[in-house]
Amino acid sequence: MEPISEEQISYTEHITVEQYNELRRSVKWILVKESRAQKALDNSFYMTVARWKGEPVGMARIVSDGGYTYFITDVIVRPDFQGYHIGTELIRRLLDYIKKDVMDGETVMVSLMAAYERESFYGRFGFHPRPFGNHGPGMSMWVSRISDGSIVTS
Ligand SMILES: CC(C)(COP(=O)(O)OP(=O)(O)OC[C@H]1O[C@@H](n2cnc3c(N)ncnc32)[C@H](O)[C@@H]1OP(=O)(O)O)[C@@H](O)C(=O)NCCC(=O)NCCS
Repeated sequence: MEPISEEQISYTEHITVEQYNELRRSVKWILVKESRAQKALDNSFYMTVARWKGEPVGMARIVSDGGYTYFITDVIVRPDFQGYHIGTELIRRLLDYIKKDVMDGETVMVSLMAAYERESFYGRFGFHPRPFGNHGPGMSMWVSRISDGSIVTS
């Protein structure tokens, strides 16, 4: 592949389900069923998609109530485009979008679940790894329905 320069990367605010799952596949994340992926993308509060020659090479999105709680998710840069500060630009754009609506005297909560050993990447933007102070650790679980029809959590 020809060398990549940051100036060649453009940013849009949309992505198709196929492109979304292609990005997920590139970083070995589970794929999301088409109908669920469409709902997830449609209900995003804000999304930014990095493109090289029109093709998505990275994305990040916010899920939010639009008032107080903002959750950053699906932060992905395709492996062959990592290290070109695309991830930094994606997070910067999301945070700018949130900050522009925070008025004098207001405070909102922005959170995310860092992937394993990604804490230092997010720490650069001011995120604190939990637990800290009176904040406990973040918690999450998978909820899956398996082939016999039962729900399993993991
Ligand atoms: C994490 C990720 C989004 C970073 O994207 P990127 O475009 O490669 O990151 P950048 O080029 O903007 O890196 C910015 C800085 O963070 C550092 N950094 C990048 N990835 C890092 C990591 N995994 N851990 C710690 N620091 C990291 C870089 O060294 C760089 O430092 P520099 O400015 O001194 O050169 C990307 O590696 C990725 O998609 N990984 C797989 C999916 C994933 O884990 N997503 C995060 C889910 S929470």
